[in-house]
Amino acid sequence: MPNEIWSTVDQYFNTLLLPPDSVLDAIIQANADAELPPYDVTPNQGRLLNLLARLCGARNVLEVGTLGGYSAVWLARALPDDGCLITLELDAKHAQVAVANIEMAGLADIVELRQGPALDSLAALESEGCSPFDLIFIDADKESNPEYFEYALKFSRRGTLIVVDNVVRDGAIMDLDNNEPGVQGIRRLAELITGNPRVDATVVQTVGSKGYDGLMLAVVNEA
Ligand code: SAH
Ligand code: DHB
Ligand code: MG
Repeated sequence: MPNEIWSTVDQYFNTLLLPPDSVLDAIIQANADAELPPYDVTPNQGRLLNLLARLCGARNVLEVGTLGGYSAVWLARALPDDGCLITLELDAKHAQVAVANIEMAGLADIVELRQGPALDSLAALESEGCSPFDLIFIDADKESNPEYFEYALKFSRRGTLIVVDNVVRDGAIMDLDNNEPGVQGIRRLAELITGNPRVDATVVQTVGSKGYDGLMLAVVNEA
């Protein structure tokens, strides 16, 4: 459970820094109405993704794990009119809700949702010879993080930013008795990066309205 002060601080800064946004509010409501799990990034994390995409001058973004499209909308709003966000989602119902939300946000022209197992969609993207992405956000099943990260490296150029959500999970990562596939996936991801000259990475631990977790940020050094 999130600590009360973490939520209050999130609310304080969100009230002052994030303007009221009827589209984002409607997405959260639509996701709740459809009984999607509440795994969307928080508003301030959505804003962070948006700022990171703008810092990158991103035109092409890849997202793994769409849910209802909340983070996709934050990311897509950072893109120019001729930009493109490809987002991958396994669950048909999540995908359906997300497509409607993206349409409601007026972003259907620049967001492409591909439904199915992300590993299949990533293999298809590879065989299509997709051009490198400027930013890649990995936020699906945590056990596959190493495989998603390997694909992300394949789809990167020098300077691509890779962001991985939920790498701390309430500190579960440090519980040696915890061998859940998701936790193992995060440990395998970190080990994969160790000594890899292609990428410089760090983890920012976070607290807030959705508890204690963390984001990995990685910049690719060379193609
Ligand atoms: N990025 C979203 C939250 C994603 S929640 C946001 O912040 O708004 C994680 C999503 O990953 C869920 O919708 C889940 O269905 C999806 N997922 C789980 N396994 C997957 C897989 N193998 N391939 C693609 N998506 C998957
Ligand atoms: C879970 C997944 C997420 O992407 C997230 O942000 C929070 C929780 C989950 O699968 O439990
Ligand atoms: Mg997440």
